Amino acid sequence: MRKIALTTTAVAAVALLALSGCSSRSADTGSGDASGFEKGSLIGVALPDKTSENWVLAGDLFTSAIEDAGFKADVQYAGQSTPVPDQQSQISSMTTKGAKVIIIGAKDGGQLGTQVKDAKAAGATVIAYDRLLTDTKDVDYYVAFDNYKVGELQGQALLDGLKAKFPDKSTYNIELFAGDPGDANAPTFFDGAMSVLKPEIEKGTLKVVSGQTEFKQVSTKDWLAQNAQNRMDTLIQGNYASTDLDGVLSPNDTLARAILQSVSSAGKPDIVVTGQDSEEASIPLIMSGKQYMTIYKDTRELVKKAIDMTTQLSEGGKADTTTTTDNGVKKVPTYYLDPVIVTKDNAAEAYKNNPDLEALTKQ
Ligand code: BGC
Repeated sequence: MRKIALTTTAVAAVALLALSGCSSRSADTGSGDASGFEKGSLIGVALPDKTSENWVLAGDLFTSAIEDAGFKADVQYAGQSTPVPDQQSQISSMTTKGAKVIIIGAKDGGQLGTQVKDAKAAGATVIAYDRLLTDTKDVDYYVAFDNYKVGELQGQALLDGLKAKFPDKSTYNIELFAGDPGDANAPTFFDGAMSVLKPEIEKGTLKVVSGQTEFKQVSTKDWLAQNAQNRMDTLIQGNYASTDLDGVLSPNDTLARAILQSVSSAGKPDIVVTGQDSEEASIPLIMSGKQYMTIYKDTRELVKKAIDMTTQLSEGGKADTTTTTDNGVKKVPTYYLDPVIVTKDNAAEAYKNNPDLEALTKQ
């Protein structure tokens, strides 16, 4: 019954639109323009500073995928010194040049509201890529790997890794790290991990010796390795002079390597540390057991999905989505891909569709 009623309503709505000759752009979801756009149109891509390998890969992949799909590409990165103003002016310039879709991997997802408002007013569709744009209605879509799930996998892996590495212990000393506060993913990864770790902290199985368990205490400004290494150095000096450190929650591979650097300089290299991104420099560390795990988020798949969405929009449809994500003011239609957990045991299998990474498991 319900299905029939909905269908009837939908047919009536389409008929009404046809009669009035309006675009079906919905003020509510803002999910694209039924009139589509031509091949050869400009597609803008604004990426953040290159804080991890996935962003380096994304730039070239976007340029070729956009051209292969028959559009013109304008792919820009934020610089390291003034990344937010860089992105603001790059997005404004894409709007001025008439971009039909603007795909944004935000340096700071809360600081592009004015620029995406202008982009929408000029008729562009805005897609948040990997990182959500927050506190703005002017984002049409979000495409990402499921970030909360990434965090859950990291939290569970830290617990499993500790039990496997230290079978004689029943309590473990750990420290927690998170990413950059301007990146909406950073608290999401952390919350996902804490959904697994917090009950164990409360039970006493895990002990955060520094007592630093709040996101704002453990975040890593700009996702910079140096900042994580400095904080780890300080934590060791202040808390682990005569205490074992067993494990560290690290939100990604770059920071995991910085943490490993710090613990090894302090003569405490034997820890369980988590990661994310399957960076080339971390895969040998996983195979040798120095880094316990990483996450595989195939950048080729994510770029392809963003371009498939762009093609659907160009044909006058809405882009396929699987769910919605609340960005503070709007439920943003979202397409999530599944992140894959990688340890030494499944690395060769997990990377078998990616010869460069697979080769690193065999060295
Ligand atoms: C991405 C991670 C990456 C981090 C730092 C996040 O938004 O999802 O894959 O490690 O940024 O670049």
